[in-house]
Amino acid sequence: MVVPRTDFPILNREIHGKKLVYLDNAATTQKPKVVIDAMNNYYENYNSNVHRAVHLMAGEATDSYESCRTTLKNWFNAERAIFTSGTTEAINLAAHAWGKENLRSGDVVLMTEMEHHSDIVPWQLLADDLDIELRYIPVKEDFTLDLEAFDASLDGVKLVCIVHTSNVLGVRNPIEYVIEKSHSIGAKVLIDAAQGVPHKQIDFEKSGADFMAMSAHKMMGPTGIGALLVTEEIFQSMRPFMGGGDMIQTVTLKGSTYQDNEHKFEAGTPKIAEAIGWKAALDYMANIDLEAEHSRLVEIAKWTSSQLEDLGATIYGRYSEQDAAVVSFLFDNLHPEDLAHYLDAMGFAIRTGHHCAQPLLERLGVKGTARASFYLYNTMEEAVEFIEAVKYVLEKFG
Ligand SMILES: Cc1ncc(COP(=O)(O)O)c(C=O)c1O
Repeated sequence: MVVPRTDFPILNREIHGKKLVYLDNAATTQKPKVVIDAMNNYYENYNSNVHRAVHLMAGEATDSYESCRTTLKNWFNAERAIFTSGTTEAINLAAHAWGKENLRSGDVVLMTEMEHHSDIVPWQLLADDLDIELRYIPVKEDFTLDLEAFDASLDGVKLVCIVHTSNVLGVRNPIEYVIEKSHSIGAKVLIDAAQGVPHKQIDFEKSGADFMAMSAHKMMGPTGIGALLVTEEIFQSMRPFMGGGDMIQTVTLKGSTYQDNEHKFEAGTPKIAEAIGWKAALDYMANIDLEAEHSRLVEIAKWTSSQLEDLGATIYGRYSEQDAAVVSFLFDNLHPEDLAHYLDAMGFAIRTGHHCAQPLLERLGVKGTARASFYLYNTMEEAVEFIEAVKYVLEKFG
């Protein structure tokens, strides 16, 4: 069952006088009214800071904020969920709070060529500070990771950072294999699940991963909040990265002691409205058959990519059962930015550019792609309209 379009107020708006067909879901998803209402309700009825005052509204705000953490931990089966501003901050937190404490000169951090910049740059910055070595698992011609090269690169590796699902290719990586192999040599594994969690309820504990980073806005929640899930073992080996209010037990002029729960890594007034909105999004997702929806969307992506191919496009990706409904493509005779402008004039929102994955695009030999990405409220009819619109643009301007 497609989620009702009417649940998403923004989908009622017109774009240049045309119906909006939103196909930029890998960048951010739209928010159902229940999420917007939950956040408005907080601001209109119990806006207060958390963890501090004894007044009624402060208690209501604290309970709502912490109930998001409980929902999150239950949803992902995770022992520890630290709120961050999103995937980017989650990975930077891992680099600073765990990496600086646990990595030494000469240690190796292994990543992949298909990482988002947010899972490359924090490790490059850390490498500058700690003199650690960075290695990358190559991407093969079929857009999958070269697992033989991965097996051969493990010597000295202390941490493997891998994207669950590529935001450019839609390819879902074999994280089970990567985790098992990495653990067999004593390395920890960080999963960038930004594009995985919108489509799948991942069991963090069962996955065996040590860290998992995510953003709420890619799963119908608000911008400005995400999380770093970690095991208890990792949690205990992390040192606070930001200091300030809320993360301490005592402060004297000689030094401070810290909270022993997740607040230790959440200095300052936290993302209260955002957490409340994220909980509403998770509750909304709980009523959706994500597996069935995922199969439906991958079928739409498969159909769309084959139609684009028939129209002469090069497709960057493949559409296996587990992959995401992300279609990256290029036409020889039409610049992706021009295509996106023409499509925008007809009501279609797609993304173009390097998608914050420049090393991957370099590997693919292109500077950017056009990308259509589908989510729960998208339909096959919209894909058909999209292909008709692309045909029109190609005929007129191609
Ligand atoms: C795979 C992947 N990782 C990380 C990010 C960064 O997410 P955020 O900008 O929400 O921190 C994105 C966002 O596009 C992504 O697709």
